[in-house]
Amino acid sequence: MTATFCEYKPGLENIPATKSSISHVNGQEGILEYRGIRIEELASKSSFLETAYLLIWDSLPSAIQLKEFETDILYHRRIKYRIRDMMKCFPETGHPMDALQTSAAALGLFYSRRALDDPEYIRKAVVRILAKIPTMVAAFHQMRRGNDAIQPNDDLDYATNFLYMLTERKPHPIAARIFDVCLMLHAEHTINASTFSAMVTASTLTDPYAVIASAVGTLAGPLHGGANEEVLLMLEEIGSKDNVLPYIENRIANKQKIMGFGHRVYKVKDPRAAILQQLAEQLFEETGHDPYYDIALELEKVVEGKLGAKGIYANVDFYSGLVYRKLGIPADLFTPIFAIARVAGWLAHWKEQLAVNRIFRPTQVYTGDHNKPYVSIKERT
Ligand code: ACO
Repeated sequence: MTATFCEYKPGLENIPATKSSISHVNGQEGILEYRGIRIEELASKSSFLETAYLLIWDSLPSAIQLKEFETDILYHRRIKYRIRDMMKCFPETGHPMDALQTSAAALGLFYSRRALDDPEYIRKAVVRILAKIPTMVAAFHQMRRGNDAIQPNDDLDYATNFLYMLTERKPHPIAARIFDVCLMLHAEHTINASTFSAMVTASTLTDPYAVIASAVGTLAGPLHGGANEEVLLMLEEIGSKDNVLPYIENRIANKQKIMGFGHRVYKVKDPRAAILQQLAEQLFEETGHDPYYDIALELEKVVEGKLGAKGIYANVDFYSGLVYRKLGIPADLFTPIFAIARVAGWLAHWKEQLAVNRIFRPTQVYTGDHNKPYVSIKERT
């Protein structure tokens, strides 16, 4: 007989699904730590690849370890021509998240051995996935515009190379550094929907490419990673500062969510939103003002006034779209960029799951009937 130990909580709110030492969120005080280090410290002192190493291998690398990791990733950035050929067959109107999910899964066709007890297999899978995901995002973007994919440039670091493959131009060093910080901010965030999806898939001992593909599919939804794209569409729709108040009042009256606000865990402003806001301001100072920023500031003020008492404040997605827009990145690539960053967290949880694995198999509260008669098709109404 199956015992029911706790009451059913929709969305598994507050139900522990694992023990983890990867990241910690204090939603009441707005604190986020990766392996015990505050996100503000990492954002000002680290790099995305160093942060990924910290998340996946549990400690900051030595100078030699970091150099080796960066060199390994640089070496594996290219994707096989057969994967590029496959991507050329994708419809150019398809969403880049769907293209990424398919391409990530396709990596398993080439590399899967499922030698999950071999540390070298784990290391290589980590490197390949971190290296190739940005190349696949940029390649699909070029291909859907009728261009050939731009090959990774071995002289460029991770963030600079991605922006180069996307835009064909080497970005301003400040733009590349800000983009790298954005990747750090999105790299990990405890057991959110996509990470949980990665863990459930990992718990079956399937290959890491299937783990990442399932997480990408989960991140794509508008209540999760898809929100930053929606934020920009919302700012476009609002159009000017004067329209903010009626727009918000109308949405609240119609019980519609305001994108980029609210969080299951944070009941104050998301610390990542605060850092992103500073980055956005820095970018606008360097490269020119964005009128959408004025709308965003007004929007945040109005939403805080109306929904702050319910613990609804700006989340990470609210300012990230403005930064990406200024970097010349189209809105439908915002969520794939989120995926490029979150791959670090997914891989860390994959590794952690493997170390103490037990397949996920929750229970359910059955609400259906029992012992119903089978009615023949002629007698059904
Ligand atoms: N706008 C207006 N009202 C909101 C919002 C919002 N953005 N978020 C929550 N609320 C309200 C709900 O209507 C509900 O009100 P009620 O109690 O009067 O019915 C209450 O706050 C609780 O909302 P839930 O949806 O139950 O909160 P939950 O913790 O399940 O949802 C979520 C969190 C999904 C992030 C939600 O806030 C939301 O949909 N936000 C908009 C989408 C978004 O920005 N997603 C990105 C999240 S960050 C990330 O994934 C990287």
